[in-house]
Amino acid sequence: MHSPSPRSLVDLPIRRLNRGDLVPCADLCEDRGWPRDEHRWGLLLSAGTGYGIDAPDGKGLAATCLTMPYGSDVIAVGMMLVAGRYARQGIARRLMRHVMETAGDTPLTLYATEQGQPLYEDLGFSPVGRSERVGGRFEAIGSGGSPSVSAAAAPSSSAVPASGLPSSASSVTTRPAAADDLQAMVRLDLPVFGADRTHLLARLPAFSDRLQVAQEHGELVGYAALWPSGQAEVVGPLIARDTATAQALVAALAATTDRPLRADVDARHKELLGWLTEHGLEPLSRTTVMTYGIPDLPGDAARRFAPLTVATG
Ligand SMILES: CC(C)(COP(=O)(O)OP(=O)(O)OC[C@H]1O[C@@H](n2cnc3c(N)ncnc32)[C@H](O)[C@@H]1OP(=O)(O)O)[C@@H](O)C(=O)NCCC(=O)NCCS
Repeated sequence: MHSPSPRSLVDLPIRRLNRGDLVPCADLCEDRGWPRDEHRWGLLLSAGTGYGIDAPDGKGLAATCLTMPYGSDVIAVGMMLVAGRYARQGIARRLMRHVMETAGDTPLTLYATEQGQPLYEDLGFSPVGRSERVGGRFEAIGSGGSPSVSAAAAPSSSAVPASGLPSSASSVTTRPAAADDLQAMVRLDLPVFGADRTHLLARLPAFSDRLQVAQEHGELVGYAALWPSGQAEVVGPLIARDTATAQALVAALAATTDRPLRADVDARHKELLGWLTEHGLEPLSRTTVMTYGIPDLPGDAARRFAPLTVATG
């Protein structure tokens, strides 16, 4: 029978998760009020390594955690979830210690929720940045400043400026990505994240509802993906030369859907956050970017507007 004492919870075995665990992973997300996100779990478990603890009551998973290579020199940790009925009994601490031991000398990074941050601080992680989650229906603004005709009517390929964008990006165009854009996307992405993320970028065409690139004079200057999560569509990754290019990419992606948007935007990008708010998105929550064993993340934060998901770093 399943009736362990609370003391024995920290001794429960940790096992590797695989794609057969998608439903219990989604159930656990739902248990903690997160979108079920089976689609996202599918990507994460194929590109990364999932760890789980089976619930001693036999009802699915008691806890999950995921590691994802952030290039070859850093590991991103995400999807740390403990079922509500097993909370505050040391399970997250045990999983995190396991991940840290497995990582050895490799530095770690993660996005900490308010609930998770005290544990990570206790384990030696330091805050290095913040991320703002915004969400809601994107309203394209006409030149008069009021919401314009349905964004869904916008063409698939568009020249900037679109709907109130700054003129500095006027020679930038955006269009749906084609198969032969992948190499240029990897080249653009590498200095932005300071890491080779081919393992994630190669999966984006199948994972995304829409993958859009921005270019100027034939050169790629940004790209962004739109993928489904619950009732919303998430914008991420969002990589762009500057804010105007990021805005053009978001506007183009928003024009392809009637669903609400969501994005986890690096809090340094205040201009983009302000623009998203003007276009109808509202602040939803904040997370703290933390690292362990490295003073900051590599790469170029000025061009890094949003991650694919906070679980991939
Ligand atoms: C955050 C979470 C994973 C913690 O799991 P847990 O198994 O309850 O955590 P532990 O029992 O191992 O507690 C470790 C420490 O975390 C901190 N902590 C745990 N739950 C907390 C809460 N609700 N509020 C504030 N701090 C909390 C405490 O410092 C705790 O140490 P203490 O019990 O000695 O005070 C869990 O609450 C959860 O799944 N929350 C929802 C999803 C989430 O926010 N995940 C974190 C993503 S970064």
